[in-house]
Amino acid sequence: MNLRFRINLIISVVIALFTLIVGNILVDDARRGIREEMEAGTKVTLQLLTTVIYSSQYMPGPGGDVLLRFLHRLGRVRAHELRLYDDRGRLVYHSPPSLYKSGREAPHWFVGLISPKLQEVEILIPGGRIDVAPDASRSVLDAWDDLSSLLWLVFALFVLLNGMVFLLLGHALRPVRQILQGLSEMQRGRFEVRLPAFPLPEFGAISATFNRMADALEESYAENRRLALVAKQSSDAIIIHDLDGNVSFWNPAAERLFGYSSEEILGRSATLLTPPGLEQEVADNLAAIKQQRVVENLETRRQARGGRTVDIALAAAPLIDPTSNEVIGEICCMRDITAYKRAQQAQVELQQNRRLTQLIQIHLEEERRSIARELHDELGQCVTAIKTIGTAIANRTTETPEVNRSARTIVEVASHIYDVVHGIIRQLRPSALDHLGLDDALEESVNAFRERHPLIACELRLEGDLKSLGEAVNITAYRVVQECLTNVARHSEATQARIAVRRLLRDGAPWLEVSVGDNGRGLGERDATEAARFGLLGMRERVQALAGEFDLASKPGQGLSVRALIPLAASPDSVVPVGAPIP
Ligand SMILES: Nc1ncnc2c1ncn2[C@@H]1O[C@H](COP(=O)(O)OP(=O)(O)O)[C@@H](O)[C@H]1O
Ligand SMILES: [Mg+2]
Repeated sequence: MNLRFRINLIISVVIALFTLIVGNILVDDARRGIREEMEAGTKVTLQLLTTVIYSSQYMPGPGGDVLLRFLHRLGRVRAHELRLYDDRGRLVYHSPPSLYKSGREAPHWFVGLISPKLQEVEILIPGGRIDVAPDASRSVLDAWDDLSSLLWLVFALFVLLNGMVFLLLGHALRPVRQILQGLSEMQRGRFEVRLPAFPLPEFGAISATFNRMADALEESYAENRRLALVAKQSSDAIIIHDLDGNVSFWNPAAERLFGYSSEEILGRSATLLTPPGLEQEVADNLAAIKQQRVVENLETRRQARGGRTVDIALAAAPLIDPTSNEVIGEICCMRDITAYKRAQQAQVELQQNRRLTQLIQIHLEEERRSIARELHDELGQCVTAIKTIGTAIANRTTETPEVNRSARTIVEVASHIYDVVHGIIRQLRPSALDHLGLDDALEESVNAFRERHPLIACELRLEGDLKSLGEAVNITAYRVVQECLTNVARHSEATQARIAVRRLLRDGAPWLEVSVGDNGRGLGERDATEAARFGLLGMRERVQALAGEFDLASKPGQGLSVRALIPLAASPDSVVPVGAPIP
């Protein structure tokens, strides 16, 4: 029942009650008044008639005529009907009916309700009798008329009041309809709806509060939408589940990562993603979340559809109910790190390979050094001895020219063997590297190259202190130059070769730069596969084993240049000591 109808109903009930009470009082009053009036009227009538009857006995002529004439003149006495009967009971006179409101009567029920029970009075006179009958019908009609007027008045008041209240309330409550409309619009999710400023201060306050609430809702709705969009478009899998593990949010990235669509997984348990053996980790995470702690950057595994295991980085935070401030769930953010893990593994393997290469190189160098030493100490001594003996024989056999010639040939061959052995020794292990340092060893090597290849102008530039670079750097730089010069001589058809070795600073750290260039034919298409042969590959591996960089630059017909950069402040694990176990 709406407010308007209720107020109308209340007014009606009040008016009805009022009418009932007032009506009751009026009816009571009227009843009392009529009784008193009738009784007084009866008394007056009786008195009058008694007086007249008495005096008529002394009048000349028959007493009855006098009385009759008097009665005719008198007519009605107030509300009393007079009837005169002769001695035989015949009606001689009957007072005329009242002209007051003649022809109209109050309704029966009203008459019954109000009219007093009055007795007719009989006055005996000589030669007959007079009946005096009180008739309250006119007074009752008066009372009825008064009551009717009151009822009409009340009815008019009722209609007027109800009508006015109805219209006024309708007008005053019009904002209520607008407010309700605004609320239902909002319920349908239209947060941009606003209410006007109503003239009534109460509704004005409601409207202002409503608008403020709508502002706040619109803002938080927009914020929510933004967050939802972020969650939806995030490249990380975002999952929300309650404390029993039942999933309530599952974004598209989670679909991609784990292979379950959100329709499939929503409402199901997140333990579906726990791979065998990791139950304890998941339980520990949940325990931390329940204590309002976060889990950060945990590298772990989860199980995707079909049992496939994915390496993930996991971050989790508690989902807190803002009203009760209690943890009601867990928000998990997971990133696929399978590729990262693989790259990490590859990096580890690469590192191991480099260490292995370095170790092999070191052992190779050791081996070369020991062979060189053997050659020098054993073969060198023997050849020297042969040469000395040959010279002695030659000196003693001057008279026997044939023997002498043979002895000299032995000396010559021994000298040649000596030179060859020394060449081999130099190739195997430049002794200058051990005794004098990289710069001198390079000078010696380049000089030997110049001697062997007089048609190639070879330029060597050395910059900075190249003395104490350490065994690993020394031998790497030396071998790079050695291999490059061999290639120049063997493949380049060049007329010039430039070698530059210098120290430099990069990002504040010391490096050694070794570059060798020529003006030969350069690497052709054909050499692309050949470039993967051991010479270039070996140089690259040597340099990379020391965490250095190796570059080749070449255009056909414009020569080839090789550049190796070796860090001098080598990290401890990039240089493996001889005899260290292979990791
Ligand atoms: N300075 C150079 N000029 C032209 N071609 C070269 C040069 N150095 C190397 N190459 C080409 O690259 C190939 C690979 O060289 P390398 O790995 O040292 O192997 P190898 O010297 O045993 O042939 C050579 O066969 C050659 O064709
Ligand atoms: Mg080569």
